[in-house]
Amino acid sequence: MSFFDNIPTAHPVEIYYLRETFTQDPFNKKVLLTLGNYRTDEGEPYVLPVVKHAERVYHKDESLNLEYLTPLGMESFTNAAVTLLLGNTSPAIIKNKYIGVQSYGSTGALRIGAEYLVRHTAKDTFYTSNPGYENHDRIFACAGFKTWRCYRYLDTKTIKLDFKGMLEDLRNAEDNSVIVLQVCGHNPTGIDPTESQWDEVAQLFVSKRIFPFFDCTYQGLASGDVNTDAYVVRKFAELNVEFFCAQSFSKIFGMYNERIGNLTITVKDPELIPAINSQFAFDIRAMYSSPTGRSARIIAHICNNAPLYQQWLGNLKDMALRIKKARMQLKEMLDNMETPGVWEHLVDQVGMFSYTGLTPEQVEYMARKHHVYALTSSRICMAAICSNNLYQVAMAINDCVRKFPKIN
Ligand SMILES: Cc1ncc(COP(=O)(O)O)c(C=O)c1O
Repeated sequence: MSFFDNIPTAHPVEIYYLRETFTQDPFNKKVLLTLGNYRTDEGEPYVLPVVKHAERVYHKDESLNLEYLTPLGMESFTNAAVTLLLGNTSPAIIKNKYIGVQSYGSTGALRIGAEYLVRHTAKDTFYTSNPGYENHDRIFACAGFKTWRCYRYLDTKTIKLDFKGMLEDLRNAEDNSVIVLQVCGHNPTGIDPTESQWDEVAQLFVSKRIFPFFDCTYQGLASGDVNTDAYVVRKFAELNVEFFCAQSFSKIFGMYNERIGNLTITVKDPELIPAINSQFAFDIRAMYSSPTGRSARIIAHICNNAPLYQQWLGNLKDMALRIKKARMQLKEMLDNMETPGVWEHLVDQVGMFSYTGLTPEQVEYMARKHHVYALTSSRICMAAICSNNLYQVAMAINDCVRKFPKIN
């Protein structure tokens, strides 16, 4: 008898399961649109030129050692991360009302933040958008949250934001609950509120006792501009609303497997900071003791050096523009094929993802017949569409909506 008898098999994670199915598919012109990874127009993974440069500097620096970092991480990195998010003229920065905690990607930042809220602020209910990023609910549940609720987000008929529904659900959200909000390039829909809609949401948080937990994984990849994309968090900071914000450097620096992120926290009273920091340090010590140094050093080196920072902004803009171009090309090709349905949403949506509106049956057929893999939710990664698969993707969509007509 084993200690591990009777352990049921966990539900497969769809993106990993589909990646495996894709790998096993012997067809050589297959297309994987499921993963949230940026690809070049040649369909290759992209190491940003500015990151390559900073890595060379890092490897040549004989003065560096591999000593442990502190639990809260490298300050030159966390300060750079907070500044990127809030902007250096933010009242939170000027008045020293912020904290930065280095993390393992935004997943890690969400997890340490969620654990903190459960343990130290007695939160037990959280809300995510419907549809939302599929890992949010797992992260919050594993951190100890007891109740998961959703607020309306997508109107599936129009494939537009259901802002009225969203606002109504947030207005009715339970007091003391945590509201997860995606800052930009919403995953999976690619639909973000406008600035004036965010203003309305912000006012709600001023007047109601609910706690905002932002997820900022795509800053700069939605509009091509890091300031435009950070609008909502900067608005909340300006209104002196306290929040947590998980930041990712996976996509925006192309450092996916380095697992680097940051948890930005704004507080009303800077005198609270030492106590908050001490609890984070205490909890992190028990979880993984301290974060990693290499990627934090590389990002800090780029962000704290004006010419390199400008170069990074350029690299980021190039990525965002390539994704926008892929959106336009796909829509144009679908229009040229006289594909049934309306495809305007492909170009209206922003960021790495597009919620296409295809049905699960159509998605399954695309994979089986055309070897083009999308998520069952109909989400595709626009950043994976490039010159050599564009026609195949358009053909697959065109064929599946004709084969299984609906409803677009
Ligand atoms: C909305 C959202 N949050 C978090 C993550 C996880 O990012 P990271 O790699 O930084 O952990 C992703 C990645 O796809 C995401 O889309």
